[in-house]
Amino acid sequence: MKKIVEIGCISHRYPDSTEVCICGLEFFMYEKEVVGLLGGNGSGKTTLLSHITGLLSPTEGQVRVFNLDPRKEFKKIWKHIGVLLQSAEEQLIGPTVRDDIAFSLKNAGWPREYMKRRVDEVMQDLQITHLAEKIPHYLSGGERQKVALAGALALRPRLLILDEPFSRVDQKSKKELAELLRAVNVRHETAILFTVHDLSHLPSLAHTVYVMKQGELLARGCPQEILLNLPLLKEAGLEPPSILELVELLRERGVDLPYTLDPEELASRLSAMLPGGINCKR
Ligand SMILES: Nc1ncnc2c1ncn2[C@@H]1O[C@H](COP(=O)(O)OP(=O)(O)O)[C@@H](O)[C@H]1O
Ligand SMILES: [Mg+2]
Repeated sequence: MKKIVEIGCISHRYPDSTEVCICGLEFFMYEKEVVGLLGGNGSGKTTLLSHITGLLSPTEGQVRVFNLDPRKEFKKIWKHIGVLLQSAEEQLIGPTVRDDIAFSLKNAGWPREYMKRRVDEVMQDLQITHLAEKIPHYLSGGERQKVALAGALALRPRLLILDEPFSRVDQKSKKELAELLRAVNVRHETAILFTVHDLSHLPSLAHTVYVMKQGELLARGCPQEILLNLPLLKEAGLEPPSILELVELLRERGVDLPYTLDPEELASRLSAMLPGGINCKR
């Protein structure tokens, strides 16, 4: 499989002299891969993404995206990436939702008729057709994020980059968003890179997970192996999923249970241990 992102050891100095080194493991992504970048606040996730999009350039080290230098080949790269920033408000610039979503298509010089069809299509996919003529500024946080995502998807990017997409939406919308992103990945073979500090959406969405702490890439693995590695999560200062904490507490009390993320499995193991299963008797 082809690698579409490759980053060795890089360092970046912000204007106020803060130095961020992103080192440890090599960071890479394959085409069509869904990668979750996991780390606490200030661990360097946004800095890493900004190097991939070419918004920042490294003071040392090399970044390759589609085998190009994103800083030098900014225009070429932006034809193939869609970006959702951490604060979706900042990227909504059109006077109406429809204009906003059409922005990248207009820039790319798409003919008017073609553009309209594509905007309608992407609004339908995201179920925001009813918002088409609204002013983005007056939308709710969740709606704004959907509009920004529609704009990022309008050009059918090969790589979609999302900074903390799950952090400001409610539980129900988180599930919908994960399903939508999975559908984009499967239907259009779009590679997806997203950052998270909450572990609950990794298993259903990511193929691969990186764990980051203070710029250091500590591990790369499939979601199960990362999430079941409690010492690693502890080292990275991350809260393990509550189902794992429950298993850990029960094991400490002598209950023989496997580490599992699957509530169904846990429920059947527990009910098999109880005489007569789980049963409320009055
Ligand atoms: N514009 C900036 N100027 C100075 N320091 C910054 C800037 N942006 C980020 N940093 C610093 O870089 C480090 C990594 O930040 P960031 O990449 O935003 O982490 P994360 O996205 O994981 O929360 C932090 O120590 C942060 O304070
Ligand atoms: Mg960030």
